[in-house]
Amino acid sequence: MDIVLSGIRPTGNLHLGNYFGALRNFTKMQYENNCYFFIADYHSLTTHPTPENLQGNVKQVLVEYLACGLDPEAATIYVQSDLPETAELYLFLNMNAYKGELERVTTFKEKAKSQPNNINAGLLTYPTLMAADILIHRSHKVPVGKDQEQHLEMTRTFANRFNRLYKVEYFPEPVAYNFGDDLVKIPGLDGSGKMGKSEGEGNAVFLADEPNVIRKKVMRAVTDTGPVEKNAKKSDPVQNLFTLMQAVSTPDTVDYFNDKFNSCEIRYGDMKKQLSEDIIKFTDPIREKIKQLSADDDYIKKVMEIGKEKARASGSKTIHEVRQIIGFR
Ligand code: TRP
Repeated sequence: MDIVLSGIRPTGNLHLGNYFGALRNFTKMQYENNCYFFIADYHSLTTHPTPENLQGNVKQVLVEYLACGLDPEAATIYVQSDLPETAELYLFLNMNAYKGELERVTTFKEKAKSQPNNINAGLLTYPTLMAADILIHRSHKVPVGKDQEQHLEMTRTFANRFNRLYKVEYFPEPVAYNFGDDLVKIPGLDGSGKMGKSEGEGNAVFLADEPNVIRKKVMRAVTDTGPVEKNAKKSDPVQNLFTLMQAVSTPDTVDYFNDKFNSCEIRYGDMKKQLSEDIIKFTDPIREKIKQLSADDDYIKKVMEIGKEKARASGSKTIHEVRQIIGFR
């Protein structure tokens, strides 16, 4: 059985893009693989050294993960800092990670530009920490988006280097987990790119958003002035609305508005009204579950404890073996 691992930084509420891009697939995946889902709270310090509400943010992500159907019995759902073995592996990997290769990482260069007054060593070694996350369970597969592929490539480099240096075949080479056709990319409401990409208010529909908030955001979504000829090609913002509709509405509904578009009779206001109601209906059970779980601190605590136990069983075994391989007693 494959060991599959996924991590997320606790930087905000989860949105429809997270749901269709990953979470929905995780709920199936967790019964077919040995899955680890963790919340990367160590990583958040690379950009936010003095977090205001770390506990709260971690809890929020956990609640939303559970609300989407992640099952703490089937998968190991844990908080990164509850597995300090990760930090020890990070230390070992850093001894064989080179300044030059770390400086060439795209995300590092971007972050160095965006926070010039805080180009800290943690930022530079972000890929080694991520490699430690992955290798601490000797994972085989990691579901990652395009922006994380370079980090995964570095993980393979570090794993191979470790094996070569210590003449072992200890770490497997982790590869990207591909959802194939199940992967639906959800665009943002601001007419460009993907949901959650820009920080702009109203670009993303969050799973915890109340119906009136969803209505407001969708009604403000960017469109265009409307088709001027039959069967016209859709502009990006309009195509985005259709893509969203395909995700949450019935095929009949999509066909109806597609026909209206093709015959130049479409009224974007009508389409948005329908789309917002369908999003509300779709997210309703998740929203309810989020509310219920948010109020149940005892249960959340229990889930964290279970996750911590399971993660440490796996992580401490690895770190013990790594210590032996390197030559510690
Ligand atoms: N870097 C990832 C992101 O920003 C989060 C992350 C941290 C991660 N450690 C990981 C993802 C390990 C996968 C595996 O989204």
